Amino acid sequence: NLPAHVKIVEVGPRDGLQNEKEIVPTSTKVQLIKMLVSSGLTVVEATSFVSPKWVPQLADAKDVMDAIRNIQGARFPVLTPNLKGFEAAVSAGANEVAIFASASESFSKSNINCSIEDSLARFRDVVSAAREISLPVRGYVSCVVGCPVEGIVPPSKVAYVAKQLFDMGCSEISLGDTIGVGTPGTVIPMLENVMNVVPIDNLAVHFHDTYGQALSNILTSLQVKVILVLSLGYFRFGSIQMGISTVDSSVSGLGGCPYAKGASGNVATEDVVYMLNGLGIETNVDLEKLLLAGDFICKHLRRPPSSKTAVALSSK
Ligand code: HMG
Ligand code: MG
Repeated sequence: NLPAHVKIVEVGPRDGLQNEKEIVPTSTKVQLIKMLVSSGLTVVEATSFVSPKWVPQLADAKDVMDAIRNIQGARFPVLTPNLKGFEAAVSAGANEVAIFASASESFSKSNINCSIEDSLARFRDVVSAAREISLPVRGYVSCVVGCPVEGIVPPSKVAYVAKQLFDMGCSEISLGDTIGVGTPGTVIPMLENVMNVVPIDNLAVHFHDTYGQALSNILTSLQVKVILVLSLGYFRFGSIQMGISTVDSSVSGLGGCPYAKGASGNVATEDVVYMLNGLGIETNVDLEKLLLAGDFICKHLRRPPSSKTAVALSSK
């Protein structure tokens, strides 16, 4: 009962690079994006139109968009925290945007400097502006299992924020375990709560690998089922639907969370593809070419490739 195909949303150029201290040249970011697309990835989150004071690494968002304008075969969503970012993104040629809320008040404050409710009000403006020009909007929920300040985040809070984003018009809701504390034991109740209010086909999962749980959590999310039971008097008919089939990941596991000490990166795309290949699930991603992209950016960052798959294959 696994999905036949999984869509991978590659977040490396945005989520992976946003916290790198040393500024990566625009041309390197663009080359990375090109290599990711040529590996077969069809959605590559390219950059963010956020305050350059908050995220200096992505201050070249407009230049990145200019340089990737003619790349065929992939979509390039960008993060927009408010109308100012949205307008800049559209002027730079973005045709898909993402807004990012949190299920934790403290994280919302430290990430976007406002409360959850204030952020939802800002996001409603962004979504309605996007709808006017028929631009799809993805909605993130961060801290879906735990928060670096508040600890455990109740599944009901995650479901509340996810529903708000869905109801305002987001076509996809990505559930982020931002600090990577989840296990299948906490991820399942969270997903069950969210699936009660947002259709499973509109959900994506976004795991970080801090405790080495990301692949288990992904597999769990692919397997979670919705069981619709039709009751006709004494007889009950069950109909089972597939699990979640959109997974976010970052090449070479780049990324992390600046507000969570010790939190390691996003799950590595190479490891996700390796697992999905092993399960016979289609991704249309060429692992060899993906490994080249990981090698390219790690060489630039002067660190060894950090996906398990790259390490295993390089020692052969
Ligand atoms: P603020 O300081 O409260 O904003 O920041 P403000 O409205 O008071 O404006 C302050 C200044 O920022 C002004 O400029 C604005 O023009 C400017 P000044 O007059 O001082 O020169 N400004 C902007 N500039 C460029 N683009 C904009 C923009 N908006 C205002 N869009 C703000 C509020 C939201 C802007 C800020 O907090 C921010 O940019 N935050 C983004 C932080 C970020 O990108 N974090 C990483 C996202 S990752 C995440 O959320 C998790 C996720 O990856 C999932 C996971 O991993 O689990 C999605
Ligand atoms: Mg992330």
